[in-house]
Parts: sequence; structure tokens; C-alpha cells
Amino acid sequence: MVLQTIQTTQLDIPPGMIHLGIGQPDPLLLPLALMKNAAEHRLGHDDGSLLAYGAESGDGYFRLALARFLTEHYHKPVDADDLFVTAGASQGLDLICTLFTKPGDTIFVEEPSYFLALNIFRDHGLNIIGLPMDEGGLMVETLEERLTQHNPAFLYIIPTFHNPSSITLSTTRRERLVQLSQEHNLLIVADEVYHLLAYDTVPPQPLANYTDTGTILSIGSFSKILAPGLRLGWIQANQALLQRLVKSGLLESGGGLNPFISKLVQSALELGLQLDHLVNLKTVYGQRMVFLSAALRRHLGNFISFSEPSGGFFIWLRLPEQIDAETLLSEARQHNVGFQPGVRFSSQQSLKNYIRLCFSFYDTPELETAAGRLADVLRNHR
Ligand SMILES: Cc1ncc(COP(=O)(O)O)c(C=O)c1O
Repeated sequence: MVLQTIQTTQLDIPPGMIHLGIGQPDPLLLPLALMKNAAEHRLGHDDGSLLAYGAESGDGYFRLALARFLTEHYHKPVDADDLFVTAGASQGLDLICTLFTKPGDTIFVEEPSYFLALNIFRDHGLNIIGLPMDEGGLMVETLEERLTQHNPAFLYIIPTFHNPSSITLSTTRRERLVQLSQEHNLLIVADEVYHLLAYDTVPPQPLANYTDTGTILSIGSFSKILAPGLRLGWIQANQALLQRLVKSGLLESGGGLNPFISKLVQSALELGLQLDHLVNLKTVYGQRMVFLSAALRRHLGNFISFSEPSGGFFIWLRLPEQIDAETLLSEARQHNVGFQPGVRFSSQQSLKNYIRLCFSFYDTPELETAAGRLADVLRNHR
């Protein structure tokens, strides 16, 4: 019999490789003990309804606990009735595409944008148009111009600690964007999964704080603040938009999404375990970001430019114009180091001389080794 490795997680990293392309939490930061406490607490209630089909919007007590948690972090009251529970941000995006678009529709995204969201949009046969960003985030004047030429089903935006660029949309632009959405009846799908991961600053208000306009769906997720294997997230929006989600065929047949796990996470929220974990994550990610930035400057100073993020998972490196990061990646693999080439985040096949590095998955010794290997790759680049 041939012994095969049985895969148990999404990751499949060759032995010895340090893959800074992986945008996931370090396995050592996954909160196993926390979830054990939360599960013991919840299962101790001896409530069989835990295993029933769930309420379509999500369990009411879980949404209350989540609303309290978000109220603290968003500095504005969040109403539990404005929350809809998802099986993670990706599933939320997919459901939004199902209900708010049809194949052939145009949507706007930022250039660059989260590459795997682009794949979800492609699954739905959408025509994707990228809009430029600068250091202040999406260039809303360009959005305004393009709205005279197209009638997009929605704009997909990652306003805070953007993936891949880590840029945060300025307050002035947020306000203008909200105005534009009202003037043009433009639906905004705001992917705010990194909003809670500010290391030590307070980011501008999330677009979730503007959902009373009726033009915004704000997506959140426990993947970045607790654990991705829970497959748990939420959408915040006004009632008219939420009712379209709640009345979908998917929920009518299957009930609310991920009810069992949401009850365990309710305990994590109520016992204060989620808050403690988040505080720790922000410290660790902040330290890793500082460390990797310093290592990159030390090893690759002449080759690169980047801005240090104040939250999130990523460093977005600009390489000299003539370097094609996809070619560089095949050379990097031979040096046992990986990254995401910029072109994957482009809806128009550009950004070829950018790479995205992620510091959430590895601790500082690996980050140091990886920066050294990247420098070797660039020095030997043909
Ligand atoms: C911007 C963005 N949205 C969504 C996701 C996926 O989130 P989830 O695990 O909740 O599906 C990620 C994960 O990398 C992300 O970076």
C-alpha cells in the first residue's frame, strides 16, 4: 500500500518553505483552549435547541452579544436587528452575488482587490471593472466619473487595512463615497474584515456606521479575530437589504447559517474571551509587522518601497518596474520562500511588479529568514 499524506487543512506548504503568501493566522495563534472553554460553557446549558435548524437571520442571543461587541469597537450603537449571520465573509459575498446580481452585470472593485473575492465574482459571471486607489484609498472622483458611464450592480471595497495594500480609506473619502451611493443609488459591499485589527490607532468609522442610508452591506468575519475554521461571520445592513438575504431560498430550506458554532462564539463573546484574544492578536500582529518591515529594509532596502500598515495582515511591496513578480516567484520557490504576486490582485492583469507579504502566519525567526531569502532571490534575479 502506498502511504499518502491525508490533507486536513486548506494549506499544503512544501517542507522547508516559508510562504509569506499565506494570509491566515499562525496555527499557534488559533484559540483552542478558548474554544474549549466556550464549548463547555455552552454545552453546560443542556439546551437541545442548539442542534435545531437556526433562525434565518441567526440566533437572536448571539446577534445581541455580537451587537454589544461591535458597539464597543465601532463607537456607535449597533442594533442586533441589523445583523445577519453568515458562514464567513466569503459565503456572505457569494450570497450577495446570488441575490443582487445576474450573470453579465458589471461591478466595480478597487485596483488592487482581494484576489479570492475576484474569483467569487467570476463564478457569478460578473464583468469586473477596477477603479484606481492611491495612498488615501479608492479614488472617489474616478468612481464618480465612471458612474456616468456604467450602472454597476455594486461596488466592492475593503475600506480598512485593505487586502493586499493595507491602505485605509480616509474619512473625507468615506463621507463622499456614502454621499455618492445615495445620489446614484449605488450599492456598496464593504468588506470590513480587518477593521477590528488596528494595532494601536483608531481607524476612521467603518462603513457599517453608515448603513442607515440603505445603500451599504458591511461584511465582518470571525476568521481574522478568532479562527477561520469556525466559518462564522456577519453582514450589517438596514432592514430592506437584510430582508432580501433572510428571504433567500437557501435560508428557507436550510435555516440560519452555522447556528451551532454561533452559540459557542456567543459564549466566547459573553465571557470576554473574544475581547482578550483580540487584544493579544493586535499586539502580536503589530510586533510582527514592525519586525518584518525592519528586516525587509535591512535585507532589501535598495530594491523595494512600501508603507508600514497600522493594522491587518499585509505588507504590499513595490519592486523595480522591470521585475515581473510571477517570474520572480518561480525563482523564489527554489530558495524556499513564497509570496503572492501583485497581478493576482488585479482585475486588469497589471501590478506585475508588486508582491504581497503576510506576517500573520509566521513568527519573527521565520520572518527574518524569509526576508533574507527574498534578498537572495532578488540579487540572483535573471
Ligand atoms: C478582504 C477579505 N475578505 C474576506 C476574506 C475571507 O474571509 P472568510 O474566512 O470570513 O470567508 C479574507 C481572507 O483572507 C479577506 O482578506
